[in-house]
Amino acid sequence: MTLTADARTDAAHSTAVPPWWRQAAVYQIYPRSFADSNGDGLGDIRGVTSRADYLAELGIDAVWLSPFYPSELADGGYDVADYRDVDPRLGTLDDFDDMVAALHARGIRVVVDIVPNHTSDQHAWFQEALAAGRGSAARERYIFRDGKGPDGAEPPADWVSVFGGPAWERVADGQWYFHNFATEQPDLNWDNPEVRADFVRTLRFWSDRGVDGFRIDVAHMLTKDLAEPLPSRAELDALPFDGTHPLIDRDDVHEIYAEWRKVFNEYDPPRTAVAEAWVAPSRIPLYARPESLGQAFNFDLLQADFDAAEFRRVVSDNLTLAEASGSSSTWVLSNHDVVRHATRYGLPPLPGERGRDAEKHGSAWLRAGGPESALDREGGLRRARAASAFLLGLPGSAYLYQGEELGLHEVADIPAGERQDPTFFRTEGEEIGRDGCRVPLPWTAEGSSLGFGADGAHLPQPAWFAQYAVDAQEDDAHSTLELYRRALKLRHELQTEEKLEWIETGRDDVLHFRRPNGWEVVTNFGVEPYALGAGEIVLSTAEDASGEVPGEATVWVRTA
Ligand code: NOJ
Repeated sequence: MTLTADARTDAAHSTAVPPWWRQAAVYQIYPRSFADSNGDGLGDIRGVTSRADYLAELGIDAVWLSPFYPSELADGGYDVADYRDVDPRLGTLDDFDDMVAALHARGIRVVVDIVPNHTSDQHAWFQEALAAGRGSAARERYIFRDGKGPDGAEPPADWVSVFGGPAWERVADGQWYFHNFATEQPDLNWDNPEVRADFVRTLRFWSDRGVDGFRIDVAHMLTKDLAEPLPSRAELDALPFDGTHPLIDRDDVHEIYAEWRKVFNEYDPPRTAVAEAWVAPSRIPLYARPESLGQAFNFDLLQADFDAAEFRRVVSDNLTLAEASGSSSTWVLSNHDVVRHATRYGLPPLPGERGRDAEKHGSAWLRAGGPESALDREGGLRRARAASAFLLGLPGSAYLYQGEELGLHEVADIPAGERQDPTFFRTEGEEIGRDGCRVPLPWTAEGSSLGFGADGAHLPQPAWFAQYAVDAQEDDAHSTLELYRRALKLRHELQTEEKLEWIETGRDDVLHFRRPNGWEVVTNFGVEPYALGAGEIVLSTAEDASGEVPGEATVWVRTA
């Protein structure tokens, strides 16, 4: 699949004023851990509304809300029981409308998460499929198969779920259903026209309520080729990811997004979408092009070491890919699925490995019980601030995760009995899972659940969270919160054309780039100070920058 010349031209010339999302700073809210308005231990929609001023003061352009729909929480809400409602524990549709109005009144757009690969097993469709039995139309909305072996007692294939354990589950009448993720997340059958029509209805439902855009969960997994005989796990693993793989990143998934794009474009302004697609870099533009979802995450910075060469390669590669797609690039250092970047950057390199890869490195530390002795909290935060200020100076969209503006670290020592992530249970604790980055935010250094709500936040907050609280950082010019506020405010002046020009530094541990408005961003990944040329320092992640960039710091310089 390639991009048409027309699509590229349209993207480049369609509007005089670039669409709002191209260089937006989007703040991810994990609603159950953001702010709890009714004291039941779970964050909720009114909690978000109550913090609208905080969000406005932070200076973001949009919020993206992870799922807030009815859910049995088998996977933190990514198991949706009803796509067109609010979980009663989190509020009502009226609360949702009030939240959208409060955010819009402050100039903040709203992006919601759509989870189309799978429903919850509590979804009315799945319950109907169980009751209706084999061969029924209700089962056709999912992926049901007879098992193998004399009495069908063996799964149709030996595939393994993304969260560990088998990917096929047997139901009472002996058939099996496929689930890429947890058992409670049956995969939908995207060959079924009813499934396609229902998601279009969902997109219209939220668009009509004023939602500005959508984040599409595992956008690369919806369509499947499940022609018999099914391949074995080993056979699957040997197949290339070139658009023809039976389960991942198939070319035919873009037929769905072409239809969605027509729906998005019915609205004024057109609704936006960003793909969560873990695919080869060369295939990202297929999701990001204007006739598809319009933007796609790149997770390369999130997986990169705190290293000048790696950062430069990631930035250059992704700006090229963005240009090829007609979209703007996206940048991410943390989200609800990975070890927070302050912690990743505070860990010693794994023996034999150069990278501090979020998946490998952070989870290895967590598995070891997250020993405090192995974590350089201060150094990790220093490097995280430098990396964040670097990211915020780049052309394109910055996706930030709640709590990173406070410099929060991962919480490693959550007792097994209080963990929630299915990864932890499905791997029998071998993978610790993602709860450590989902611990409710500390708003105040004192008081019940540190200002999150009443006592008993749904994941335990450690005592050290208090020092990162919002009220402990406000008005402290050197705090991480004030650094983010300043950077996000200045960013609006910085984000003119979507371009950068590298300035050679003569050092392999310093990156220096200039934006078209003359502003420069310099990040020193090493320890030796780097001397600056002319210009006014408008932002610094270190306290003592003047005329030079100290080690492990970023400064922004206004030269024009
Ligand atoms: C990606 C989401 O980010 C993650 O949290 C979730 O577990 C899986 N998709 C399955 O929906």
